[in-house]
Amino acid sequence: MPDVTTAAPAANPHLPHYQARGLKGRILSGVQPTGNLHLGNYLGAIRNFARLQHDYECLYCVVDMHAITVWQDPAALSGQTREIASAFLAAGVDGHKHIIFNQSMVPEHAQLAWIFNCVARLGWMNRMTQFKEKAGKDRENVSLGLYAYPALMAADILIYKATHVPVGEDQKQHLELTRDIAIKFNNDFKAPDFFPVTEPLIFGAATRVMSLRDGTKKMSKSDPSDFSRINLTDDADAIAQKIRRAKTDPFPMPDSAADAEKRPDADNLLGIYAALADMEKDAVILEYAGRQFSDFKAALTELAVTKLGPVGAEMQRLMKDPGHVDRILHEGAERARAIAAPILAETYKIVGFLQP
Ligand code: TRP
Repeated sequence: MPDVTTAAPAANPHLPHYQARGLKGRILSGVQPTGNLHLGNYLGAIRNFARLQHDYECLYCVVDMHAITVWQDPAALSGQTREIASAFLAAGVDGHKHIIFNQSMVPEHAQLAWIFNCVARLGWMNRMTQFKEKAGKDRENVSLGLYAYPALMAADILIYKATHVPVGEDQKQHLELTRDIAIKFNNDFKAPDFFPVTEPLIFGAATRVMSLRDGTKKMSKSDPSDFSRINLTDDADAIAQKIRRAKTDPFPMPDSAADAEKRPDADNLLGIYAALADMEKDAVILEYAGRQFSDFKAALTELAVTKLGPVGAEMQRLMKDPGHVDRILHEGAERARAIAAPILAETYKIVGFLQP
């Protein structure tokens, strides 16, 4: 009798291609060039980009087309695009081994996005919580692009047939939509397994970094107080000052995970420490249990300056050399197009478009 309990799950037909080369798959991720990068962006996304490059073939994209779904000052956008690319490089991504590029330089993203606009259903789009949040009460006045945003994101991923996408909490729903689009496309056009059903890669502790002024709110570039966040380009003095002024409570440091959970400001600082030190939060709690916040803040400052200082300095250096960053982006776009163009051509054939 066949042993059903050991039967392998349905194989992903896209994986053997990578496994044969000792890799786990192909990753695509994107970051919007919409202003200052902060600790939350770094710990939640960019730092992981460097860590993934040993096991995956990686494409990291500065999504300038997503950025303009809300107004961007044209005079600032190109600098913001270079800033994100600099952050990828400063965090340790190898732009020659892997691919760093900006979205608008690879027109295949927009071309596939149109097809996906015709695959995705209005009912699906209407469920997107990020759209509802961003549109707020002024729904009649937001751009059509903001509404279609998740279909473009699906195109970013599937134009490379990416097998994995690292996602934070806020992008999970968009990845679900990407999977739904892939499945519906493959079904509607009777092209089984043409697009992969992309898997999320979820990262552990402290991917959610909260405001230093209010541990219940996400760290955000739009918070009016610069003391609410640590920017990637902050120098040691700024980092020290912000941590010193970070909100705490009048009690000694939490002595258990349950205690920490009830104290969001303390919990946030512990999470940041754990992430920067690559430790489990419980181990940090144990180490500082019952001690004064001032001791802990001194240690956190030293740790943050050690870990972030070199990244910030390298970013500053790269931003002073836009020619170098532009060369990496151009080379990246060329290599990205070499992957995307044949996939788009196949897609056009499947849809019934005449070949250009
Ligand atoms: N929507 C993502 C964000 O705002 C950015 C993004 C665009 C993205 N395309 C992507 C992330 C593709 C992962 C994969 O953070």
